[in-house]
Amino acid sequence: MKILVTGSHGLVGSALLPALMADGHRVLRLLRSATPGTDEILWNPDANQIDAAALEGLDVVVHLAGENIAGQWTVAKKARIRESRVAGTRLLCETLSKLDRPPHALIVASAIGFYGNRGDEKLTEESAMGSGFLPEVVRDWEAAAQPAREHGIRVVQLRFGIILSAHGGALTKMLPPFRFGLGGRVGNGQQWWSWISIEDVVGTICFSLSNETLDGPVNTVSPNPVTNAEFTRILGGVLCRPVIFPMPAVVARLVLGQMAEELLLASACVEPAQLRRAGFQFKKPNLEVGLRSLLAPSVP
Ligand SMILES: NC(=O)c1ccc[n+]([C@@H]2O[C@H](COP(=O)([O-])OP(=O)(O)OC[C@H]3O[C@@H](n4cnc5c(N)ncnc54)[C@H](OP(=O)(O)O)[C@@H]3O)[C@@H](O)[C@H]2O)c1
Repeated sequence: MKILVTGSHGLVGSALLPALMADGHRVLRLLRSATPGTDEILWNPDANQIDAAALEGLDVVVHLAGENIAGQWTVAKKARIRESRVAGTRLLCETLSKLDRPPHALIVASAIGFYGNRGDEKLTEESAMGSGFLPEVVRDWEAAAQPAREHGIRVVQLRFGIILSAHGGALTKMLPPFRFGLGGRVGNGQQWWSWISIEDVVGTICFSLSNETLDGPVNTVSPNPVTNAEFTRILGGVLCRPVIFPMPAVVARLVLGQMAEELLLASACVEPAQLRRAGFQFKKPNLEVGLRSLLAPSVP
């Protein structure tokens, strides 16, 4: 297949590209800075500019681009988080919908942040959105794909959980304190963390390329969510380190602000209902096995 990927330098994109190429696909990248005469295509989502002619005749588009959400959520940062997703997706989808030869499918990143803070409630794709900044961003981000859907393109919105990788994202931020024996639960530790290994994220995207039963929102999480306290205990065990330094919720809020509230302290017990229905086989459904395989080279 001829596949266009946005956000190709990111955590997911850099794991996805080698897998797509190994499967024999031709991969093009949509970039904010592209080299002419290569498989790189230029866009500038901030200025609403895109090289539309270069998008004719693609089979699938995988859209992963968006401002990284880590860091202090200042007013400016929140505007970038939102606009890079909503305006970027709208520009891409409006462009795809006007092509003479549009792609058959658009696989677009989304997030379980859609559900907000939901205690012990079991969340499927049927569940209503939550309240807060992230749920509103995700709602608008998913709605921005509507022009592509209206044009008959199959749109799969992968609501990613916490993606675990040894090369970036949440896990690599957690590792330093844990390695020094300073790790611990956040808040009371009872909040559910719905995680997924990077291997299964790549597997889900590859599965979505041609699986026509997947359409609309798809919870992209392992079938075994854990509480934060359980996550912490397992990570400490894999690293052979004690986990005796909890971070009180008040400290997390003080240091990380709204990001702590909506990411670290929020509880989302998410089920991969659509993936199960479609018969997707997880390679790393178990957290301890997943963490051991990711951290194997560095675990004593
Ligand atoms: N990692 C997770 O745990 C997680 C969880 C839930 C949802 N997600 C979502 O899944 C998608 C991929 O995640 P990821 O972890 O691979 O993200 P990432 O590592 O932060 O990479 C995102 C990519 O987006 C592009 N980008 C960054 N800032 C941008 C901006 N202001 N405007 C336009 N493009 C911008 C860059 O792509 P190029 O430099 O290649 O152009 C960057 O490599 C993101 O939309 C993210 O929100 C991730």
